Amino acid sequence: MPAVCRDARSVQSLLLPGARGPRRRPAPAEQPSSVRPRSEGERCSFATVNDAELDALIDALTLEEQVSLLAGTDNWHTAELPQHGIPAMRVTDGPAGARGTTFTGPSSVNVPSGTALAATFDPALVERIGALLGRETRAKGARVLLAPTVNLHRTPVGGRNFECQSEDPHLSSRITVGYVKGVQSEGVAACVKHFVGNDTEHERTTIDNRIDERTLREMYLQPFEAAVCEANAQAIMAAYNRINGPFAADSKELITDVLRGEWGFTGIVMSDWFGLHSTVEGIEAGLDLEMPGPTRDRGAKLVAAVESGTVDASLVRAAARRMLSVMDRLGAITDGGPGPETTRDAPEDRSLIRSTGAAGMVLLRNEANALPLDPTSVRRVAVIGPNAAKGRIMGGGSAMVNPVHEVHPLGSLRDRLGGAGVEVLDAVGCTIHRTLPPPRRDWVSNATIDYFATAEDMNGGAPPLRSEDLPRFSLIWPEDPSEGLTRELFACRVTFSLTPDVSGPWSFGITSVGRARLFVDGELVADDEHAAPGGSFFGIGKAQFVASHELGAGRAVRVTVEYVNEGAGLMRGLIMGFDPHVIDDLVAAAARLAATTDASIVIVGTNDDWEAEGYDRTTIALPGRQDELISEVAKVSARTIVVVNAGSPVAMPWIDEVDAVLFVWFPGQEFGDALTDVLLGDVDPGGRLPVTLPRRLEDSPAFEHHPGRNGVGRYLEGRLIGYRHYDTIGREPLFPFGHGLSYASISIDGATSGDGVVRATVTNAGGRAGVEVIQVYVHDPVGTGAPDDAVQHLVGFAKVELAPGESRSVEVALDPRWAMHWDVAAHAWSTRAGARELRVGRSSRRIDHVLAVTAG
Ligand code: BGC
Repeated sequence: MPAVCRDARSVQSLLLPGARGPRRRPAPAEQPSSVRPRSEGERCSFATVNDAELDALIDALTLEEQVSLLAGTDNWHTAELPQHGIPAMRVTDGPAGARGTTFTGPSSVNVPSGTALAATFDPALVERIGALLGRETRAKGARVLLAPTVNLHRTPVGGRNFECQSEDPHLSSRITVGYVKGVQSEGVAACVKHFVGNDTEHERTTIDNRIDERTLREMYLQPFEAAVCEANAQAIMAAYNRINGPFAADSKELITDVLRGEWGFTGIVMSDWFGLHSTVEGIEAGLDLEMPGPTRDRGAKLVAAVESGTVDASLVRAAARRMLSVMDRLGAITDGGPGPETTRDAPEDRSLIRSTGAAGMVLLRNEANALPLDPTSVRRVAVIGPNAAKGRIMGGGSAMVNPVHEVHPLGSLRDRLGGAGVEVLDAVGCTIHRTLPPPRRDWVSNATIDYFATAEDMNGGAPPLRSEDLPRFSLIWPEDPSEGLTRELFACRVTFSLTPDVSGPWSFGITSVGRARLFVDGELVADDEHAAPGGSFFGIGKAQFVASHELGAGRAVRVTVEYVNEGAGLMRGLIMGFDPHVIDDLVAAAARLAATTDASIVIVGTNDDWEAEGYDRTTIALPGRQDELISEVAKVSARTIVVVNAGSPVAMPWIDEVDAVLFVWFPGQEFGDALTDVLLGDVDPGGRLPVTLPRRLEDSPAFEHHPGRNGVGRYLEGRLIGYRHYDTIGREPLFPFGHGLSYASISIDGATSGDGVVRATVTNAGGRAGVEVIQVYVHDPVGTGAPDDAVQHLVGFAKVELAPGESRSVEVALDPRWAMHWDVAAHAWSTRAGARELRVGRSSRRIDHVLAVTAG
């Protein structure tokens, strides 16, 4: 029995209006857009555009030309063949914005990160964010957005969890479908990543993740399947890791059999950056595009493999044809190639990002209606915490963009509360940097950088080949630094004057891919030759090397940092950080301030030192002295409101000491205003937890098996991740999946089911508008007998907004597979006939109604 798939929609119906392909057939009739139950044998194939003309074009190319289309030419472009009228195509990261070709070029709109989007439980809203990102991608002259990231949260400490959406495949799938549809509505291909099992940053480029077939099908493959079969995603990025042996990029089973064969995917599959390690296996598996370029494993090597008969020429032809086919669907063959990179900044985009940020904020606790904060009830408010003046709007790594606009909590609260006559005072409370931060502007002057061809030139006193003002203290060179300098080999010297404002020992930190040395007034202070490997630059660079040096207040010193990119293969970079030893007790100072106010808003969380691509966290504790800060403030404050600004779970040992807790994730560039909207009650906190918050890391699923040993990651917990784990083994989480409070008082009554939906009446009895997310979980009292059968899992949800006093009937569509499981022996989805419970409620632990139903 063949596997069945979700709805297929035509390419043309989804790639509008930017698609301007010249040789297009009329669009086939559209399928209904909602998920419908899949029937046996249904496949999500769709008509390919211009078959005959594409065949003619591909057959006009030589083998070398076909092969050239199968690798990038640089970080962000595919190859052009002008003699055949084929331009290059640009791709861009993804997913919290469309960055363009540099981290420092034209700025980009920054939308909420993955967990913040999933917390909205609102696929239609996410579709609007997707469309905004599609427009951003076009503004960067690109046609492929390397997003969304849809791996599941197997453990709370995954370094890229903030970028992904949820621990639950149903929620992830719904959010993914919205995102992809939105992006692709602007003539841009969404490249859904990382296919599959890239659930940890630990040894991410080599680890062999062993995932059993049923777990893969029912959990980790679900969001990809939905993206392909329901949203018609046009591109997929293979994961770095191995899956059950082969690298994901070499997995014929996943790429050819499942993705193309069963799901009918006709788009392109590209490698993650430097994630292809083969000339033969990758092309045989069906991997189309090696990224980035220039090629390492294809080009002449692949031509030779074809000519010697090792690789069948038809595989090269098929992959090149898929490249052209997707370009054609996008209109990227006739659009003249990548355009200029520009910045958009529209008021309606800012307002969409602001309301989406607020729609994902989760009110976890609200004792005695501590929130919303009525400005007329307070005279002095303290805004405290390391994330108050500059909050974290996004996580770290390739998901970062150079934001076009930023609003932070302290500024926004000061504007709004200040405008209402409230005095707003602030204190940092503690610091949370793991690596030393860049210096304050007022400490530094005359900062320059000189480039040399070689270390010998630099050390031998040769004149620099290029000199410029130092642009920033964090430098990365994805391309050649300038004409005449190759990124493979160059050296540079950073020089500046540092005027300390305090006397005493100062810390100097250097982090590099290569080798860096730091001198103060000519004296060698730090040399990172023997710094520990890993921990910076996506895991490729070294850990920060820190040394101490005594400085005197007001006495300027000359600091020189020399960098040589020796040994730096895939990447080159240098980060410099400085800090005086802090003698003041920042926690005590913040508590003293809090004691003088009517309310304290404590904004805690993480930053990209903790949540970033390249490494996992090792703990879910808030970094630095933040736990202590909250407790000390709570002891003396009239009202303590904690705002958690993190991309994934943190522990809250102080939970019973505080009045209110709002989890805001990484909410994007409008963070401050979105937060103020919710804190002051202009907007109901619309978010629900897309992940379980554990009390301790040790309680979490996969704890015993993560991050793997001896290069192997064993997914021995099977399907019991997230709330499936807590609910099945009866372990109390700190807050359950799906939890989130409203300022309104909403009830759910009269639940019934039938025709694949659950209906209920939702009533807002209070005097405030509010939001509720009705969730439906299925419980199978018999199960399939597998040890990792979950006691219940989410099969549908619907978000409703209700005016004061409003009552409304709501329909929750059930996942067509609500009663199905993957039958390994039959290699197909199968329904176990019999009784089920549909549990209707507002979190995995708060069930209002139980409906008895029969499946099959
Ligand atoms: C990341 C991808 C990203 C690519 C390009 C890789 O390190 O894993 O998600 O799209 O870099 O920046």
